[in-house]
Amino acid sequence: MNTNYQKYTEKLVKITDVNKAIAILGWDQEINMPEGGAAIRAQQIATLSGIAHELFTDHSMGDLLNELTNDPSLTPEQANNVAHSKQEFDKKTHLPASFVQKLSHSTSEGFQAWLAARKKNDFAVFAPFLEKMVNLKRQQANLLGFEKQPYNALLDEFEPNLQVAQLEVLFADVRQKISGLLAKIAAKPVPKNDFMFRFYAHQKQWDFGISLLKQIGYDFTYGRQDISTHPFTTDLGMQDVRVTTRINEHNFHEMTWSTLHEGGHGLYEQGLLPQNYGLPSGAYLSLSMHEAQSRLYENNVGRSKAFWQYNFPILQKIFPDNLQKISAEQFYAAANIVQPGFIRTSADEISYHFHIMIRYEIEKALIEGNLAVKDVPDIWNSLYKKYLNLTVKNDLEGCLQDVHWSHGLFGYFPTYSLGSFYAAQIFRAAEKAMPQLATEIQQGSLLGLNKWLRENIYQYGKKYSIDELCKKITGEELNLSAFIDYAEKKYTDLYNL
Ligand code: CO
Repeated sequence: MNTNYQKYTEKLVKITDVNKAIAILGWDQEINMPEGGAAIRAQQIATLSGIAHELFTDHSMGDLLNELTNDPSLTPEQANNVAHSKQEFDKKTHLPASFVQKLSHSTSEGFQAWLAARKKNDFAVFAPFLEKMVNLKRQQANLLGFEKQPYNALLDEFEPNLQVAQLEVLFADVRQKISGLLAKIAAKPVPKNDFMFRFYAHQKQWDFGISLLKQIGYDFTYGRQDISTHPFTTDLGMQDVRVTTRINEHNFHEMTWSTLHEGGHGLYEQGLLPQNYGLPSGAYLSLSMHEAQSRLYENNVGRSKAFWQYNFPILQKIFPDNLQKISAEQFYAAANIVQPGFIRTSADEISYHFHIMIRYEIEKALIEGNLAVKDVPDIWNSLYKKYLNLTVKNDLEGCLQDVHWSHGLFGYFPTYSLGSFYAAQIFRAAEKAMPQLATEIQQGSLLGLNKWLRENIYQYGKKYSIDELCKKITGEELNLSAFIDYAEKKYTDLYNL
């Protein structure tokens, strides 16, 4: 092999080893760490993050990447890896160390202020810190460079090449097509769902969750599940991918669909190729594509009739007191109740996209300088009225509900919606490629779907751009039609629209 490429690979593996050590410290912090360990853990993570950053932005790495960028002997896959690393190198070295420090300082400060503001249920406590953060993010956009508008530079951090122009088209479709569907559903009676909130014992839920993970093909030889306050997935390399869930004994929704969601994330990581460890071709494509995998299992599979035709009779046997008198149809309807609410994380799969659109509109206006921080609560509340016909009563259930802005995550929210839209397109392509898929799901057999996703998505890592991969799989660019078809068909049937 080309010796420079060999050196490059070795460097990346070393950096990834450090990053995965950081990941295990982060996982442990959420799962096992005693309360008093927080300070020393933060120091350890900061030290290792510094080491990883130095290793990657070192001038020898820069020289190596420059040489490799002009090396005609590389294979196309090698050249693609180098191009990705070069882009990342340029991004990381565009931000001076003093700026990165300022940003990291403002992030911890902002997070504390956000917690304090939530305690007092008062946005004004958080406002000066948010203002600082918005200014830093605008500086960041300028340092990174952008086309057309600064918000594009921030989008690019989370979804490479995503631009406002594309989001405007998608969200216009959300406004025009999804709001009609929401209005029709709102005119119908809410299906019976009290049985979802009866007593579901912790251990029985846990066991059922494990069986669901096994059913979708999550491999416990290379993974494990634990309990955490906020469910998440951590990968320590594709051979050690960990998921978490949470259990509420009086709400059956929480464990079930968060397990399927994180399971979908986990399947993606387990499906990356071990021989590409450390390389861009061995890393997930983008946040939207990651979220597409989780949403696909949570919604397209996990809220489908076929899935519960198989699983509901099993569930009935586990919880006879709660479900004996309930039919699979009733359970399916209760799993799919559409009811706009204030809180994004507990939103149904339809109204969810309005929550995202509202955040997108607000953060874009902040970054573009079209909205003053002090006006965020007013505009937030008026948009909830406009799109979801809800009167927000306080900041806690309004603009203080998400942690993202306190962490400086501007440009992140849109990837949540994109995940669902890609999931709909991908699932439709899977159904086309596997006419037997619905029958398989009805029989509790999801390994065919997993195999198809491994072959068509997981194994490629960053080999293709998301636009290329979407076209390769679905024949189309990202658009809302698959999602709308899916939603209209499903909810017309469920609600007799
Ligand atoms: Co997710």
